[in-house]
Amino acid sequence: MEQKRIEEMIDLAIAQLKYSYTPYSGFKVGAALLTADGKFYTGCNIENAAYSPTNCAERTAFFKAVSEGERAFSAICIVGGKDGVLTEYAAPCGVCRQVMMEFCNPDTFQIILATSKERYDVFTLREILPMGFGPDNLAEK
Ligand code: THU
Repeated sequence: MEQKRIEEMIDLAIAQLKYSYTPYSGFKVGAALLTADGKFYTGCNIENAAYSPTNCAERTAFFKAVSEGERAFSAICIVGGKDGVLTEYAAPCGVCRQVMMEFCNPDTFQIILATSKERYDVFTLREILPMGFGPDNLAEK
């Protein structure tokens, strides 16, 4: 992916941190999801007093997109840190990796982890979810 596009996604993900609702953990996460046809959907984490209904930033972005008819994605950028301070990469949790597996090609979908526009790394879904279980496993063979 072009560096300019990556930087644009990092800016969008960082801009989401201000909407992150985290009265319990204080750990703020922002995400920017890019569709195959070049549209962005953003997301933040949304916590809950009952804890388990908490939604991660990545899933917020995916569910916004899928609920508007999107089914094909090319990349997601994720940033996060305690009190919104970005000191290290905020890698997606297992549940979010599984949601990515549902809608994305593991060999081509790119996950951009960043702390700033100067410090980021790009991974494929396959790299961060080896031997993932997905729709292909349920397909008639
Ligand atoms: N969180 C995310 O938003 N994405 C992840 O992949 C990891 C965790 C959020 C959930 C919760 O609000 C906070 O980070 C601490 O777990």
